[in-house]
Amino acid sequence: MKIAFIGAGKVGAAIAIHLANAGHDVVLAESSDGSASVAAARARSSKLRAAPAAAAVADAEVVFLATPYGANEGVLRPLAGALRGKVLVDCTNPVGPGLSHGLESKRSGAAVVQELAPEAKVVKAFTIYGYENLDAPPPPACALRPAMLFCGDDAAAKSAVAKLVADVGFEPVDVGGLAQALHLEHMTLLWIRMVRAGGASPHTVWARLPRG
Ligand SMILES: NC(=O)c1ccc[n+]([C@@H]2O[C@H](COP(=O)([O-])OP(=O)(O)OC[C@H]3O[C@@H](n4cnc5c(N)ncnc54)[C@H](OP(=O)(O)O)[C@@H]3O)[C@@H](O)[C@H]2O)c1
Repeated sequence: MKIAFIGAGKVGAAIAIHLANAGHDVVLAESSDGSASVAAARARSSKLRAAPAAAAVADAEVVFLATPYGANEGVLRPLAGALRGKVLVDCTNPVGPGLSHGLESKRSGAAVVQELAPEAKVVKAFTIYGYENLDAPPPPACALRPAMLFCGDDAAAKSAVAKLVADVGFEPVDVGGLAQALHLEHMTLLWIRMVRAGGASPHTVWARLPRG
């Protein structure tokens, strides 16, 4: 699958490397004056290509958004046309003061992303853990795969993202429509408060127990 990343920092680079290793054609969007994170990611994997954002998006079937939440408006507005009909994976989290929800829980960050790219098929995914788990998901030998919860309104887009979630090493768990994104964003805050503020292991993950 042809995949573009806007944002290749801790989150974007980790996912991009796994997907390139799984055989996908992965390109990282870089700014006109170069991008330190794109160069660093490409130093970690020679499979990653780089291209200007508009070209990267135009050529992709799936686009990952892995930028700081506050950058989303400036990033997405000029690309809204190019994103028409594409799967847009929202990896961003609006985090406010004191590890609160950055939009005061009035609406989800994913709803704002959908508004900024109205004709993209937005799926919120890869957000509920810190980057440490994206860098190194538990090895395949583990009996239980860590769950990656995701949501979106387009069934075909979610099916494509579910495959990518599995390629990175997680059990895909579809939790419903994009209206569920607010709850995923709160789940992220739960994890961040436990780990970043509370001292729990950054390799804390959730799993779904099969019941016969
Ligand atoms: N860190 C985590 O554990 C974690 C986990 C899950 C989700 N998230 C969410 O994922 C997103 C990315 O987090 P991160 O930790 O990967 O951040 P990061 O390491 O700081 O990387 C941010 C990336 O966005 C790019 N960027 C920044 N401002 C930009 C702009 N105005 N236009 C275009 N690109 C821009 C940066 O490029 P340059 O190198 O050119 O600056 C870099 O590639 C955030 O929304 C965060 O809430 C984070």
